[in-house]
Amino acid sequence: MKIGFIGSGYVGLVSGVMLASLGHKITCIDNDLSKVIKLSNGEVPFYEPGLDVCLKDAINKENIVFSSDYALLGDCKAVFICVGTPSKSNGEADLSAVEQAIINVAGIVKKDCLIIIKSTVPPGTNNLMINRLKDNGITINLASNPEFLREGAAINDFSNPDRIVFGSNSISDLEILREIYNKFIKEKVSIVETDPTTAEMIKYASNSFLAVKIAFINEMANLCEKIGSDVKQLSLGMGLDPRIGALFLNPGPGFGGSCFPKDTDALANIAEKYKCPISILNAAIISNKDRYEFLFNRIIETTSGVSNKKIAILGASFKANTDDIRSSPSIEIIKKLVDSKADVHVYDPKALDNLMKLGLTITTHNNIESCVHSSEAIIILTEWDEFSNINWKAISELVKRKNLIDYRNIADEKEVLLAGFNYSCIGKK
Ligand code: UGA
Repeated sequence: MKIGFIGSGYVGLVSGVMLASLGHKITCIDNDLSKVIKLSNGEVPFYEPGLDVCLKDAINKENIVFSSDYALLGDCKAVFICVGTPSKSNGEADLSAVEQAIINVAGIVKKDCLIIIKSTVPPGTNNLMINRLKDNGITINLASNPEFLREGAAINDFSNPDRIVFGSNSISDLEILREIYNKFIKEKVSIVETDPTTAEMIKYASNSFLAVKIAFINEMANLCEKIGSDVKQLSLGMGLDPRIGALFLNPGPGFGGSCFPKDTDALANIAEKYKCPISILNAAIISNKDRYEFLFNRIIETTSGVSNKKIAILGASFKANTDDIRSSPSIEIIKKLVDSKADVHVYDPKALDNLMKLGLTITTHNNIESCVHSSEAIIILTEWDEFSNINWKAISELVKRKNLIDYRNIADEKEVLLAGFNYSCIGKK
């Protein structure tokens, strides 16, 4: 099928490339001409494992093209809207880019083309857009198809979906969605066919539930530290109950990234608007924000103050296998350390370019050894494999003081203690 994508950011690019890999003919439109040129040459503008190979393959097979010209969408049977929905200062999602993209597409495509919103939008957006455009004399077929891809694991998530959600008001629209995802329907992947508002709600509720789960285990970790129990064993013991599930029960520095913080704020905001506040979600949001202070204070206690002391930070991205530093807990901690006049040194395998764009007063390193050299404390903030495999004996000979704070619980405790470190992790006394 000939399919268009508006927006070649994370969601649009991954989905477009992966639908191209299924044999669809994809046209990706993006306003940023330099991005269009890069993508046309097979260069992915961010780090996502495996995406570059899939992109080059799709280009070679002539299944994908990139352009800034909406006119190329003329004969598309479906067009996905994948533009940003940033938070406004009150937490509400800003829908102006979505609306503009729909208007642009509606002016080009044929009457039977289906416009599909993939951007994360507040429940009710689909209907709101149909009505707004109708008021301006524009009739469109609009559906919703939220995405559930995780950064760093997007290729696998796309290829092996837990479920696919179609939000549509008409059988003919549904048929188009079914044709696009036909491969997965044949493989008997669970498909949820519902109305657009419920589809939009599924996306927000899923991300919010996972965020609540993380906030819950983080608070359990705090309690474990006081009581003297071990949160790793607690997660294991809880997660074996299939009603709870083992995933997303890892305590850490708090949830970050471009989705959970934004989507939880947006859902909380919608709920307030409907005078139906979700107190459990509000608590998770507050708990997550408070976490940075809690983690920062532990660094201060461990080092007896950080002013003019070299603190080595391992990890800047909001989680492993991505160069994304948006709402990264690591960045929050780094900023607090800088404000407290610490001499902050950072190493990350992929995120340093993005980190440097923030213009913080820090020193970056391209290897662990130079980052930790002569440091007063090492703080692990991202769970990169490289940090799980550190030889702590060798590292202990480089540092000034053997303080290790492991906010991802990934270091081998026995090895670290044997190397003489004062070791502090999460959820264990
Ligand atoms: C999340 C969802 O998992 C995807 O399903 C969704 O499609 C995506 O948002 C989106 O809305 O676009 P992502 O933001 O890539 O994906 O990251 P996650 O892997 O979900 O992690 C989010 C945060 O939770 C990270 O900061 C991570 O470190 C943290 N986390 C995750 C924990 O602290 N503990 C865990 O056990 C799991």
